Amino acid sequence: METTAAEAGQPGPAVHPALAPVSYLLGTWRGQGQGCYPTISSFSYTEELNFSHSNPRKPVIAYTQRTWRSPGGPAAEPMHAESGFWRLKPDGSVEVVIAQSTGVVEKGTHDAEGKVINLHSELVGNASKVKEISIEFRLVDGELSYELQMATTSTNLQPHLKAVLERV
Ligand code: HEM
Repeated sequence: METTAAEAGQPGPAVHPALAPVSYLLGTWRGQGQGCYPTISSFSYTEELNFSHSNPRKPVIAYTQRTWRSPGGPAAEPMHAESGFWRLKPDGSVEVVIAQSTGVVEKGTHDAEGKVINLHSELVGNASKVKEISIEFRLVDGELSYELQMATTSTNLQPHLKAVLERV
C-alpha cells in the first residue's frame, strides 16, 4: 500500500511505493551524539538529520546532516556536515551516495528489516585518511539511533560516533 507523504510526517506529494520500507525516515530528526576514536579526544555533539522526498516519480530520498558541538546546539560551533541521496534499487537494496565536508564520498547498500538499516562504504574517495565506514541505524520506540565505525590508514574499524535522535 502506498504511503502518503503526510503519513510519513512530510508535506507534499505521495511517497514513491519503492520507498515504503524506509519511509519512516522521512522528516527531521534531532538529538545528541558522542564521538570517540583511539587517536582523538572524545566529544559530544548535537545533530539534525533531514530525509526529504519531493518527486513521486523517483524512488530517491534527499538526505542532509548537520552537527554542532555540545552543549549549545545550533547556536554553538558547527562540526561535521554531509549530504546525499538514498536510492532504492529494484532488488530492494538501497544505494547511499554521500558527500562530506571532509571530502569523503561514500556509496553503500543496506537491508531494511525490522527497521534496522546497515550501510557499508563501497567507495571512499578524496579522503586522505578514511579507508572504510560502517553504520547501523535502528528505529526503536520512535527513536532513531545509529552507531558509526570507521577505519583509517592507521586504525582498524573502530567506533567513531553514536547518537540518538527524536523526530521534530
Ligand atoms: C576526527 C572522519 C564524522 C568529529 C576524524 C578523523 C577522521 C574522521 C578521519 C581523524 C582521525 C585520526 O586522525 O586518526 C570522519 C568521518 C565521518 C566523521 C568519515 C562520517 C562518516 C564526524 C562527525 C563529527 C566528527 C559527525 C562531529 C559531530 C570529529 C572530531 C575529530 C574527528 C572532533 C577529532 C578532531 C579532528 O580531527 O578534527 N574524523 N568523521 N566526525 N572527527 Fe570525524
